[in-house]
Amino acid sequence: MSNWPFLQNGKPTHISRAEGVYIYTKEGRQILDGAAGAIVCNIGHGRTEVADVVRNATLKTDYVLPPWHCDEREDLVDLLTTKWLRPEFTRVHLTCGGSEAIEAAMRIAVMHYSAQGKPEKAKIIGRDISYHGTTFATISIGGHESRKVGVKHTLQRFPIAPTPYTLRCESNDPTQFYLDELESTILEEGPDTIAAFLAEPIAGASGGAMVPPDGYWEGARALCDKYDVLLIIDEIMTGFGRTGLLFGYQHWPFEPDIFVSGKGLTAGYSPLNALFSTDKVAEPIEQAPGFSVMFHTYGSFAPACAAACKVLEIMDEERLVERTKEMGVVLESKLQAAFSNHPHVAECRGKGLLQAIEIVRNRSTLERYPIEENVTAKVIKTAFDNGVHFYGAGTSIVRDVVLMGPPMTVDESHLDTMVEALSAAVDTVTQGVS
Ligand SMILES: Cc1ncc(COP(=O)(O)O)c(C=O)c1O
Repeated sequence: MSNWPFLQNGKPTHISRAEGVYIYTKEGRQILDGAAGAIVCNIGHGRTEVADVVRNATLKTDYVLPPWHCDEREDLVDLLTTKWLRPEFTRVHLTCGGSEAIEAAMRIAVMHYSAQGKPEKAKIIGRDISYHGTTFATISIGGHESRKVGVKHTLQRFPIAPTPYTLRCESNDPTQFYLDELESTILEEGPDTIAAFLAEPIAGASGGAMVPPDGYWEGARALCDKYDVLLIIDEIMTGFGRTGLLFGYQHWPFEPDIFVSGKGLTAGYSPLNALFSTDKVAEPIEQAPGFSVMFHTYGSFAPACAAACKVLEIMDEERLVERTKEMGVVLESKLQAAFSNHPHVAECRGKGLLQAIEIVRNRSTLERYPIEENVTAKVIKTAFDNGVHFYGAGTSIVRDVVLMGPPMTVDESHLDTMVEALSAAVDTVTQGVS
C-alpha cells in the first residue's frame, strides 16, 4: 500500500495473523506479544467465541443509535454493574475510543458544576507525567511531551501537578511531598475554579508502570473532598484486571467520582471504552434543563458491547484477574533477578502484568542517555528482531522506559522468553551507545 500510513517516513510492520500470545509477520516470523499490542489484548489473540458474538450482533442489528437500548448494551451494562463495578458506580457512558471517553469525563465534570450554578468551577488539573489521549483537550491535559510536537503552541493550558516519580524524588517523604504539590496547585488556581483532578492510578505510557507511594491516593482523595473537586481516574490501560485487581485504583483504599476504562474491556476485539460515575456526579446534570451527554456516532456500538460481554465472561471463566496477579509476581521476580544489579537499569516497577524497566546511562547517578540516542526505540526494535514485542514508554521527564503487558494467558515460559529477550536487547543497545 503506497499511500498508507499518512506519513511515509518509517517502515511499517505488517502483521498477517495472531493466535494465543503470538503475532505473525507477513514474512512468517512468530513474535511473542509481550505488550498485548498496546496493552490491550488481555485474553490473547484469535478467540473464535468473541468473533462469533461480534458476527451475530452485526447480523442481528448492526448499527443502533447510541442512546437507544438493545440487548447487547443491556447485557453489558448488567454484567458490568453486577460483576465488575462497586455498587456506587451506577452510571455508565460508552464511547468508541479512549480519548473520547476522557473528554466525556472532563465535560461531565465541568457540567456537574455548571448545572449547579457554578460555571466558574471549570478547570481540570492534570499531571506532568501522564497520557490521556490525542484529541486537542486530552493531549493538552496530558504530559506526554513527544506526542505534542508540532501542536504544543496551540494547546489549551491546564493546571498541572507532579506525578509521583519516587525514583528521582529528593524528599524523604515522597507521599507528603506530592500531596503538598497537588494542594499548592489547587490553592494557586483557586479551589472555586477547579472542577476535577484527572490522573492515571499507575502512569502507563508516559511513566512506564509508575506506581505512586502508599498514602498518595488516599491523600489525593482527601484533598479533592476538602476543596470540592471531582476525582477522575483514567483506567484505560490499568483497568479490567491488568494490574492483578479488577481496576488499578483498587490497590489503595479510595474511590474516584468518575473513572474511565477501555483497552481490556474488549481486549482488542472491538473498539469500546466506558466511563463510570456515581449518582452524585450525574444527578445535577440530569436535572438541569437542556444539559446532555452527547454521544459519538459509533459510541456503545452494539457488536463491540457483545465482544465486551464475551471477553468479560472469558476473563471470569479462566480466572484471568487472579492469574494476572499470580503471573505478575512471577514476572516481577524474574525482572528483579535479571536487572536489579544491571548497570544501565535504574528500576523495575509495576503491578500485576503491567511492568516496566527504566534504562539509564548510569545507575548510581540516574543520569539519562541523551534523547537523540533513542535508546528505548532501539531496545524495542532489537527485541522485536529477536522475536518479542515490547511497548516503548516514557517521554521527556521520564526518558527510556520499556513497558511490558503480555496477554493474561501467558505461562512462565513466555515470561522467561520476555525477560531473556529484554536482557539481551538492553545489553546490545547499551553497549552500542556512549
Ligand atoms: C491511560 C490512557 N488514557 C487514554 C488513552 C487514549 O486512548 P485512545 O488511544 O483509545 O484514544 C490511552 C491510550 O493508550 C491510555 O493509555
